Amino acid sequence: MKISFTLNKEKVTIDVDPMKRLLDVLREDFNLLGAKESCGEGECGACTVLLNGKPVTSCILNAIHAEGKEVETVEGISKTKLGKLIMDCFDETNAVQCGFCFPGFFVSSYYYVKTDGEKDLMKIKRALSGNICRCTGYEKIFDSVMLACERSN
Ligand code: FES
Ligand code: FES
Repeated sequence: MKISFTLNKEKVTIDVDPMKRLLDVLREDFNLLGAKESCGEGECGACTVLLNGKPVTSCILNAIHAEGKEVETVEGISKTKLGKLIMDCFDETNAVQCGFCFPGFFVSSYYYVKTDGEKDLMKIKRALSGNICRCTGYEKIFDSVMLACERSN
C-alpha cells in the first residue's frame, strides 16, 4: 500500500505494509536510525518522534498512522534553531552517557521547550516522565532542559 506523509519537512511516499511499525519504517525504509527500540511496548520512550507536532512512541504505531500526517524525528528536529539550542544544552551539562535514550529525551524536551518552556523542574519532570534512562540519575538531563528553557526565552 502506498503511504504518503511529511517526514522532517519533506513529502515522502512509500510502498509498504500498512501494519509495519512506524519505528521500523523510519529505521529501515528511511535509514533514520535516531529513534531506538528498547522495550518495544510504548513504555520507555526510546523511539519517541513527533506526529503532527506531538510526542508519540513509534514502536506502537503502524505505518498507516503516518498517512497524511507530519512526522519529525531527532534527525530533523536537531537541525532547527531550537533543536540546536537544546542539543548544545545537553552537551554542556554532560547529560548523555551511553546515548541510547537520548533521541527520545531530546524529542520530548524539544516538545516541552517549544510548547511550554517554563523553567519549572516539576513540569519538566512531568514532560519527560515517559522517557527512561538506564545510565544517568536524570539530574543532568533535567539540568539541560532547565538551561534550554532559560536560553530559549
Ligand atoms: S521502544 Fe518504544 S517506548 Fe520503548
Ligand atoms: S544515557 Fe544510557 S540509557 Fe540513558
